[in-house]
Amino acid sequence: MSRRWISLPQRAGETSRQAHADLPAGTFERELGKEGFFGPATHMYHRHPPTGWTGWEGPLRPRAFDLTKLAGETGSPWDAPLVLGNAQVKLRWWQLAGAMEFLARNADGDELLFVHQGKGDLFCDYGHLAVKAGDYVMLPRSTMWRLDAPEPPGEPMALLLIEATGGSYRLPEKGLVGQHAIFDPGVLDIPQIDDAFRAQQTESRWQVKVKRRGEISTVTYPFNPLDAVGWHGDLAPVRLNIADIRPLMSHRYHLPPSAHTTFLGERFVVCTFAPRPFESDPGALKVPFFHNNDDFDEVIFYHAGDFFSRDNIRPGMVTFHPCGFTHGPHPKALAGMLTPKRNSTDEYAVMIDTRDALDPGPAMAGAEWTGYVESWQPKPEGPAKKEGAKPEGAKPEGAKKAR
Ligand SMILES: [Fe+2]
Repeated sequence: MSRRWISLPQRAGETSRQAHADLPAGTFERELGKEGFFGPATHMYHRHPPTGWTGWEGPLRPRAFDLTKLAGETGSPWDAPLVLGNAQVKLRWWQLAGAMEFLARNADGDELLFVHQGKGDLFCDYGHLAVKAGDYVMLPRSTMWRLDAPEPPGEPMALLLIEATGGSYRLPEKGLVGQHAIFDPGVLDIPQIDDAFRAQQTESRWQVKVKRRGEISTVTYPFNPLDAVGWHGDLAPVRLNIADIRPLMSHRYHLPPSAHTTFLGERFVVCTFAPRPFESDPGALKVPFFHNNDDFDEVIFYHAGDFFSRDNIRPGMVTFHPCGFTHGPHPKALAGMLTPKRNSTDEYAVMIDTRDALDPGPAMAGAEWTGYVESWQPKPEGPAKKEGAKPEGAKPEGAKKAR
């Protein structure tokens, strides 16, 4: 028997006519939503910012981690520390200096690399692909690959690895906006059987470290098994650079994060926030609305730029908002809710929303900004201003652009 939602549009008290625009004077809008806001949802108008808490106890809380504080390079992606994970997705933070000395093969799921820093050369079953900061590289499950970062003193690479455990990556349906919106599929690059690939096809001993069910097995060959002379088919790694993403926006409506969906996993999505103009309609919200995404945990990795809705967040940091509370813009962004002091964002960030609860990895204890839960509290004015909870290296108050 098919099911349907207990869902009847209703209205009570003072409201706007439609979401995210022309809010009742002096109110703050909150969106409450099921199914990642694709199910029943309500917009509520509050007298106070819903993040105005003054105390918090218990295990559930907003969390933030500074991945740049994690220990240094590892030659193996399988030694990269777990940032957050559940049965369907694993986020790892990998720093690599120099060339990998073996091939990796992830038999647990498709692997999505996001290059945060540096550049290098990826060699895989399918050929050679140069990679640089801002690239996503989707490696189908069980692809054999290795990454060569510049040898020291060259810049090491830093990557976010997003494993679709037990699953596959797909592209979202583009619906009303058509197949060439957000990015034209023509910008997806594939590895090439080129001179660099042929040059690495040696007869020397190579090992493949295969990850299956979280455990590593090692297979030894007397030659380099990346020895294809050609291939054809519709299964291959793809590269997408965030500079090729042309985000959707509306001058009259603050689009939800789902408009920025880049890849779909089985029970999670990967979205990309890229620079875009702010809404220009006088009554339209210019910042993310307060919301509780009641069926999802939300993660954002900050890659580059000035993060307009977050105070004291720098590139290389991660915020983690498990479901169960309302979150939204920080105080300085909220001050520009309708009248931002600039007319565009310049941020690049990767968002991962998961249907099932995430747990931080054990290494995250050393990288956590424990004061994050208090970061929505307006800072007291004057010489008694408290700075203690701010993460090390955060920009001074005056240097951050309020929007
Ligand atoms: Fe959120």
